[in-house]
Amino acid sequence: MSVIEMTNGVKASQSGKQPEVEISLDGMAVAASEGELMVEAILRHKEIPHICYHSPLMGSIQTCDTCIVEVDGQLVRSCGTKVGAHMKVVTESKRAKDARSEAFDVILGYHMLYCTVCDNNNENCRVHNTALELNVQHQEHPFKPKPYEVDMSNPFYRYDPSQCILCGQCVQACQTVQVNETLSIGWELEHPRVLWDGGMQIGGSSCVSCGHCITVCPCNALMEKSMLGEAGFLSGMPKESLNKMIDVVKAIEPEMGYGAIMQVSQTEATMREERIKKTKTVCTYCGVGCSYDVWTKDRKILKIVPLHGDANQISTCVKGKFGWDYVNHKDRLQTPLIREGRGFREASWEEALTLVTSKLSAIKQQYGPDSLAVIVSSKCTNEDGYLMQKFGRAVLGTNNIDNCSRYCQSPATTGLFRTVGYGGDSGGIENIAKSGLVLIVGSQTADSHPVLATRVKRAHKLHGQRLIVADPREHEMAQRADIHFRPRPGTDLVWISAMSRYMLDNGHAKLDFLDKWVNGLDEFRKSLEPFTMEYAAKTCNVPLETLERVAKELAAARSIAILWAMGITQHTRASDGSTALSNLLLITGNYMRDEGGAYPLRGHNNVQGAGDVGAAPNVYPGYQSVTDPEIRKKFEEGWGVALPPERGMDNHEMVDAMHDGKLRGMYLAGEDMISADSNANHVAGAFEKLDFFVVQDIFFSETCRYADVILPGAPALEKEGTFSSTERRIQRLYQALPELGDSRADWKITQDIANRMGANWNYQHPSEIMAEMASLTPLYEGVSYDRLEGYKTLQWPVAPDGTDQPVLYLSGFPFPDNKARLYPLEFHEPQEAPDRDFDLFLNNGRLLEHFHEGNMTYRVSGIQEETPERYLEISEELAHERGIDSGRWVRVTSRHGSLVIKALVTNRVFGKQVYLPHLSQEGPINILTGSHADVATNTPAFKETAVRIKLLPEQGSNPLKPLNPRFSGKPTPQTGVEVERKWKRKDYHMPGTEKLVQIQSQKGTSSHGDSC
Ligand code: SF4
Ligand code: SF4
Ligand code: SF4
Ligand code: FES
Repeated sequence: MSVIEMTNGVKASQSGKQPEVEISLDGMAVAASEGELMVEAILRHKEIPHICYHSPLMGSIQTCDTCIVEVDGQLVRSCGTKVGAHMKVVTESKRAKDARSEAFDVILGYHMLYCTVCDNNNENCRVHNTALELNVQHQEHPFKPKPYEVDMSNPFYRYDPSQCILCGQCVQACQTVQVNETLSIGWELEHPRVLWDGGMQIGGSSCVSCGHCITVCPCNALMEKSMLGEAGFLSGMPKESLNKMIDVVKAIEPEMGYGAIMQVSQTEATMREERIKKTKTVCTYCGVGCSYDVWTKDRKILKIVPLHGDANQISTCVKGKFGWDYVNHKDRLQTPLIREGRGFREASWEEALTLVTSKLSAIKQQYGPDSLAVIVSSKCTNEDGYLMQKFGRAVLGTNNIDNCSRYCQSPATTGLFRTVGYGGDSGGIENIAKSGLVLIVGSQTADSHPVLATRVKRAHKLHGQRLIVADPREHEMAQRADIHFRPRPGTDLVWISAMSRYMLDNGHAKLDFLDKWVNGLDEFRKSLEPFTMEYAAKTCNVPLETLERVAKELAAARSIAILWAMGITQHTRASDGSTALSNLLLITGNYMRDEGGAYPLRGHNNVQGAGDVGAAPNVYPGYQSVTDPEIRKKFEEGWGVALPPERGMDNHEMVDAMHDGKLRGMYLAGEDMISADSNANHVAGAFEKLDFFVVQDIFFSETCRYADVILPGAPALEKEGTFSSTERRIQRLYQALPELGDSRADWKITQDIANRMGANWNYQHPSEIMAEMASLTPLYEGVSYDRLEGYKTLQWPVAPDGTDQPVLYLSGFPFPDNKARLYPLEFHEPQEAPDRDFDLFLNNGRLLEHFHEGNMTYRVSGIQEETPERYLEISEELAHERGIDSGRWVRVTSRHGSLVIKALVTNRVFGKQVYLPHLSQEGPINILTGSHADVATNTPAFKETAVRIKLLPEQGSNPLKPLNPRFSGKPTPQTGVEVERKWKRKDYHMPGTEKLVQIQSQKGTSSHGDSC
């Protein structure tokens, strides 16, 4: 889908574009789109002030009055006026200019201009820039500080009410983009200000520290704490001296005017460009693929500035915006380590790599190539991953290669391969947002894919999108849903198949589409015979009426996007569950269109890429089969070596092979397999049996304990490369910081090892690695670093001419006959379920503020302050039955292991379900989970674990800290900033000499954005 660059670089979809009309702009005939905001039409041709207008995503706010122009002889706010044909727009009249100056003068009454010593004066402060643009010399409305303290109670940012110009952009962002609904403005207060949860301090409010409000704040009222005292040459001076300087500036202003003072501050702002480096990067946490600039000063990370990303625009979550302390953390591995007795000693690269290569070579020679294996990190870049799998195949000579998508995403990929042919999301985030109905199954999207969730929350809140959630736990999306139901764990296939049958039985199936584009309907219809609604209700333990309501909603929906994740993919029949969802999308005709579709949400930042680059035992890059002789020949010619013809072992099989003595050596990068695989004790026992184990990581993980050599890799901020997000979006990241200490970018390490083992690789830059991969991989054929420069992105498959496919299947499915395939399924009971001995169902997953096992986020001090420990969520019913209060220590025991943890009583879980986050610092969850796995892909069945709990005598403090947004936050939902309440104030004076009116070319100019 094409996009247009708007104010502030934020992009708006051009879909649904209105007809072009002509308007007169200062006497010049110009084209505009009927119904677009006048300010956008004007800004395409000339600058006018517009402090509170941010972008189409944020929409019309109308709080600042600085954008006033004349339209057909009347003064109007251009951001509140929609374009109509033949409108006569005058921006340069004295009336309009006076009105804008008056509006800005009112703003200066709220905000002290001390720009030279302000950390926000970095050439992007919109108050500073507007003062310059309007050539302000003096102000009529004297600055009056507001009678409120600066709020420093959030670990990451602060609010200074006395600098707040009440533009309301923060409120709009919080209410309509992030949709956390924390912020409002107390317009009726004597001194209006921004309010958190209607008047709480920030820390302890419902604020989730996503940072949207700070990103859009046009001045220094909201600022990252990491910027304070850092950005300016003078802003770091002690507060007393700073105040004296401000007083001096204020004293000379009446005589000198602002002109000279602003020139000084402008010069200082320009000088800051020299010492603050701004580097585009891509988030290293989840698979949404948020991109942004990171501002650094030497090694200090000052702030994250999202504005341009195709996936996220202005959005981030707490991890992307503030989760960066880990990069400079004292725990970073900075030098190679070699095992010595029970510990490790530091070593030079020469010594470490000599040992690695001699050991790997010796094992290869003695036991053959298949006694070795490679595990590729899905946190690393595509180029890192490509080289590692090439190393495994071309240098070691084995297909024993895998990555952590085995733990979460392989079943989703299998379900899509069985039915539609590509192993990726069928569209992008904007296609989800456009859909008539979103069905979320087994994904706590607001925790695991926070920015993607914002677009669903926004569409649901503002644009009438329907939302249905099937999940045992009442997470945020479930709370917001129109229907939330809780199928018995492991039975999703049944109700999903019953939905398919309902559509076919009741005339809601898209038969024309099926007839033309889909094979296997008759056989599939037959396979659905057992799946009546009654059978589903009984098997899934869901009321029949609920299932019928869901079926009716699905039947009535204009389009259906299905989002799923580990609640589906971590079962013993996970591939079948994923397949059932894709079957349902086919039956309802939700492929081959730019709304609706399949969205198996990828967990890690580059788990999609790790699969794409061939970090798997059965496929080369681009999912090309290793057993296909033609394809193998292509890679043999490309790489100049003979390649192994048989499929290798996946990481589940590798663990068994270590126990059996068949696998003797392993090279593993960036994966804490002990914490991430199921059955930690079984995995640890396997590592102990290896002859040689080399681990490459940025921290000393649990897995490192079993290594013989540890090599220090580099995190994303310290290297160049690309990531591929859940939308199949390939994006470049640039090096913001030098590699820390003696650590090295991962691709450099792999190349060094390969060359020491006889390869003759000579990659100078990751772009050369991508060029090689593109030449061998049809999905990435047209990908090049030039085409991905800066914020440019491509969604695979990419044709040789660079044309990408934001939406898959628009012209058919990648099977020989161009048709999709319905895939018949049977239901099998989950392998492990609660019984008399283990009476509770153990659910598990992520928490918004921590990522997976917490290796990075436990090293972020602000996140630690808010969420220092994990806990076992138990239901109010269970707490009542067993006499448990929050903070009580309990022992949790499964058939596979046991751990001790504090309980948290919550209404997010029900009955005999308990929930344990993945965080592993106090003992990984997978001590409790067994080795049973999806029968098709060997993905561990994390979600099929039964436990019992035993109360321990100790009663501890509540594990949920008062600073945590879940503790006592009470959001205050509004549809936007509610500027009408400001206009009703007695002291509100409309700028301009005439009464201000709004001209509406169409009824209902909204006070929020409508570009969903
Ligand atoms: S949730 Fe908090 S950080 Fe995010 S926009 Fe709202 S107030 Fe700002
Ligand atoms: S804190 Fe909010 S209302 Fe105040 S200036 Fe910043 S964005 Fe505007
Ligand atoms: S963790 Fe995910 S949602 Fe959050 S900023 Fe990073 S990519 Fe975006
Ligand atoms: S930009 Fe139009 S009122 Fe603020």
